[in-house]
Amino acid sequence: MDYMGNKEYWDKKFIQRSDKPLSPETALIDNIKYFKEGSVLDLACGDGRNTLFFLKRGFNVTAVDFSNEALKRLQRFVKKLNYSVDTRQINLSVDKALKDIKIFDNIVINHYRLSKNNLLDIKNHLSFSGILFVSGFGHKHKTCGKIRKEDLIKPTDFDVFNDSFELIDYIENEDDRGFFVTYIFRKK
Ligand SMILES: C[S@@+](CC[C@H](N)C(=O)[O-])C[C@H]1O[C@@H](n2cnc3c(N)ncnc32)[C@H](O)[C@@H]1O
Repeated sequence: MDYMGNKEYWDKKFIQRSDKPLSPETALIDNIKYFKEGSVLDLACGDGRNTLFFLKRGFNVTAVDFSNEALKRLQRFVKKLNYSVDTRQINLSVDKALKDIKIFDNIVINHYRLSKNNLLDIKNHLSFSGILFVSGFGHKHKTCGKIRKEDLIKPTDFDVFNDSFELIDYIENEDDRGFFVTYIFRKK
């Protein structure tokens, strides 16, 4: 699914951003204790504020987005810090979008809503006891022009998991930006 807008919308947004990465997601920082040492797949990574956070903590990161402008910025930030990252330009709205992606210890989906078909495939890309972290605007968020109803993460999104994941934490937050949810799953 396209989140908030199409590739053109996002490319333009990233071209207009200042030359500094944003700070990492607070929900990630607060919950880093759940992550397994090793590798991270950052899906819909944008220009990589969270990828940079993981690189600095010694994880190997593969970062995926459909915006080449976002990935170009991420590569620039990473080079400046003397790290390296594997970036892949993939449109996550197509079925089997992860077919060429290998297996990771952790998968992060932050402020993006993955389609049910691709969520169903997530378990095939996680190692044993691998962690899936999903965070973003949740079902009680009041939609406005920017965040659309179809962008909201709903509890039923995860029905596709059946018995393959254990929910190890669920957090709700509300502030002046809206209603946020964080789901942390461990692969069984
Ligand atoms: C709100 S940003 C979140 C970026 C990053 N995860 C973060 O937390 O800063 C949403 C991201 O989803 C990407 N995106 C939207 N639709 C997509 C699609 N169909 N395939 C891949 N990436 C997509 C956008 O390019 C953008 O980088």
